[in-house]
Amino acid sequence: MGYKHEYERSLSDPNGFWGDAATAVEWTTEPTVICDDSAAPLFRWFSDGVLNTCYNAVDRHVEAGRGDQPALHYVSPVTDSARTLTYAQLLDEVSTFAGVLTDLGVAAGDRVVLSMPMVPEAVIAMLACARVGAVHSVVFGGFAAHELAARIDDAEPKVILSASCGIEPNRVVAYKPLLDDALSQATHSPDACVILQRPQLHAEMGDKDHDWQELVARAVPVGCTDVAATDPLYILYTSGTTGKPKGIVRDNGGHAVALAWSMANVYDIGPGDTWWAASDVGWVVGHSYIVYAPLIVGATSIIYEGKPVGTPDAAAFWRVIADYGVKGLFTAPTAIRAIRKEDPEGALIAEHDTSSLKALFLAGERLDPDTYQWATRVLGVPVVDNWWQTETGWPIAANPRGLEPLPLKEGSPSVPVPGYDVRVLDGQGQEVPANTEGSIVIRLPLPPGTLPTLWHADQRYLDGYLSAFPGYYTTGDGGYVDDDGYLYVLGRTDDVINVAGHRLSTGVIEAAIATHPAVAECAVIGVHDAMKGQSPRAFVVLKSGADVEPEELSKQVVATVRQLVGPVAAMKEVVVVPGLPKTRSGKILRKTMRGIADGREEPVPSTIEDVRVLEDITPFLTG
Ligand code: COA
Ligand code: AMP
Repeated sequence: MGYKHEYERSLSDPNGFWGDAATAVEWTTEPTVICDDSAAPLFRWFSDGVLNTCYNAVDRHVEAGRGDQPALHYVSPVTDSARTLTYAQLLDEVSTFAGVLTDLGVAAGDRVVLSMPMVPEAVIAMLACARVGAVHSVVFGGFAAHELAARIDDAEPKVILSASCGIEPNRVVAYKPLLDDALSQATHSPDACVILQRPQLHAEMGDKDHDWQELVARAVPVGCTDVAATDPLYILYTSGTTGKPKGIVRDNGGHAVALAWSMANVYDIGPGDTWWAASDVGWVVGHSYIVYAPLIVGATSIIYEGKPVGTPDAAAFWRVIADYGVKGLFTAPTAIRAIRKEDPEGALIAEHDTSSLKALFLAGERLDPDTYQWATRVLGVPVVDNWWQTETGWPIAANPRGLEPLPLKEGSPSVPVPGYDVRVLDGQGQEVPANTEGSIVIRLPLPPGTLPTLWHADQRYLDGYLSAFPGYYTTGDGGYVDDDGYLYVLGRTDDVINVAGHRLSTGVIEAAIATHPAVAECAVIGVHDAMKGQSPRAFVVLKSGADVEPEELSKQVVATVRQLVGPVAAMKEVVVVPGLPKTRSGKILRKTMRGIADGREEPVPSTIEDVRVLEDITPFLTG
C-alpha cells in the first residue's frame, strides 16, 4: 500500500488506521477506544489501553530471544571509550535502576528530573522511570542553573538524577555545582539526588546526595508497572514565546504506537538494524530516536558523546558508521555544515567504509539547499529532511522511506506524514492556494504520540496552540505547499529561534539581558549564521548616563546570558543602538526587525520616530 492510500486512510479512518498500528505494541489490556474525543479539543489516544513502555522497549525483545543482540552502543570519543549493552544486559541494568528508584520512594506518577551527559546511564534511568510508571523530565546540560531551577519548580520532582560532569571538547563541565546552584534558586526541593561519579571529575556530595553506583550495588531488580495509555511518560520543556518554558507532556500508549509506526514507515528501520540519532537525550530527537523508537522496534541504537568535528576529527561520524554498520543516521543540518567546513570535498568519507548507510535524515532546523546538495553528493545516499517539533514528538512532514520512497525535492521535507492533516492558512484562517505562504497548522485531532496538553497547564495549551485558528493546532512555523503537495517550511512566525538545531526563546535571552544595570531595554532576534543556521543578535538601548564602553558592555552581556540562560544560547553579538522601533502601544517591532535582517520584509514603522530608529539600526540588522 503506497503513501497516498495510507495518508488518506489515516485521515478518513483514523480509528482503523491507528487501531491497526497499535498491534505493533504489546498491551497488558488492548485498547478498544482508539481516538477519544470526549474532552475535545483535548484528544486522548487508546484511552482504555494499559501497557508499559519499558516492557515494549526492553523486556519483550529479551522474551522473544533477542537478548544477545546489542541494544545500545555507547561511543564516546571525548572520553576515548566505548561500551555495548545487549538487550539482556540493558534489561538487567534498567530493572536494577528501577529498584533504586523504588528504594527512594519513587512510584507511578512521581516526577524524576534528569540532568545528565550522554552516557548509557541516562538511557537506563529514563527507561527505569518508564518501568516504574514515573514521569521523567530530562533537562539539556547546556542550560544554566536558572533554567534548570525553573524546570525543577514546574515538574516538582521527587528525585533528581545527575552526574559529576559532562564533557565538551574544550572543557569538563561540572554538573554538580550547577545542580546545587539550581536547587538553591528553586522553591521545590526533591527528596534525594543521585549522582553518577565520573572519573574525569569527582563531585562533592551533600546531605541529600546519593552515590549512583552505591545505590545500584544495593538495589534489587523490579518488574514493570502497568500504566494507562494516557498516563504521562515524560515531560520535556521547550522554549516558547514567553520566558516560562512549556512542559510538553508525552503519553505512554500513543507515543509507543506512533514511534513504532515511524521507525518502520518513515525511517525504514526494523529489528536488528543499527540506527544512530546524533543528538542529545536532552532534546526531543534524543528522547524519540536515541531512546524509545529504536528500542521499541528492537533495533540497535547508538548513544554518542561528542561532536561531529574536533574530537578527534571531521571523520568522527564516518568512523562510527563504518565501525558499527550504521544503516540510518539522523542529525541536524548544522552538524553536516560543521563537517563540510573541515572537509569541504568529503575526502574523509572515502577513507571509511560507509556502505552500510542507506539514508541520512536531517531535522531540527531548515535544511538549506546547499547543505542538502553537498551531503547528497559526498555521501551518495538519499538525504531526507523531516520537519517536526518537541510538541509532536515525531515527524509531521517527511519522505516515508519505509512506506514508499517519494522523489526528494531540495528545500522541502516532502509530504505530510499519515495522521497529520496539514493546512496552510492566511491571517483570517482561510486556506491559501498552492505556492502561497501562510501559517502552517494541523487540523485536529493530532495523531497519537503528539502532546495531549502542557504539564498542569491545559488552559495554556488551549491559548497557546489551539485558539489562533479554532479546530487547528498552530505549529508556529510559516511556509507553503507546492503543486505536488510538498511542504516548504520557511521559519518561525513567533519569537522562537533555532541556533545549531537548538530551540531557544528570544524572550528568555532578553529577560537575562534586562538584568544588566546599564540596559534600559533590548530586543533579541535570530540572524542568519552560516554554520549554526541562526544566531542570536541583541540590540541594546543604554540607560541615560550609563557609563560603559560598548566593548565592555558586550562582554558583560554575553557573560550574563551565559550565566542565566546557558552556553547553549551561544550569544556573541551585542549591538548598542539609540532606540528600538515600537508600535504605538509600545511593543517592540521584532517582526519588522527580523524581516529586515532576513531581507524579506520592507520596514513598516508605525511612527516617524520609528522610521528614524529603523534607519539607524538597519545596518546592524543586516549585519
Ligand atoms: N553541556 C554543557 N555545555 C554545552 C552542552 C552540554 N550538553 N552542549 C553545548 N554546550 C555548550 C558548548 O560547549 C558551547 O560552549 P562554548 O561557547 O564554551 O564553546 C555552547 O554550549 C554552544 O554549543 P553549540 O551550539 O553546540 O556549539 P559548538 O560550537 O560547541 O558545536 C556543532 C557546534 C555544530 C558541532 C554542534 O552544535 C552540533 O553538533 N550540533 C548538532 C545539533 C544537534 O544535535 N541538534 C539536536 C537536534 S537534532
Ligand atoms: P524543536 O521543538 O526543538 O524540535 O524545534 C522545532 C522547530 O524547529 C520547528 O518548529 C521548526 O521551526 C524547526 N524545524 C525543525 N525541523 C525542521 C525542518 N526539517 N525544516 C525546517 N524547520 C525545522
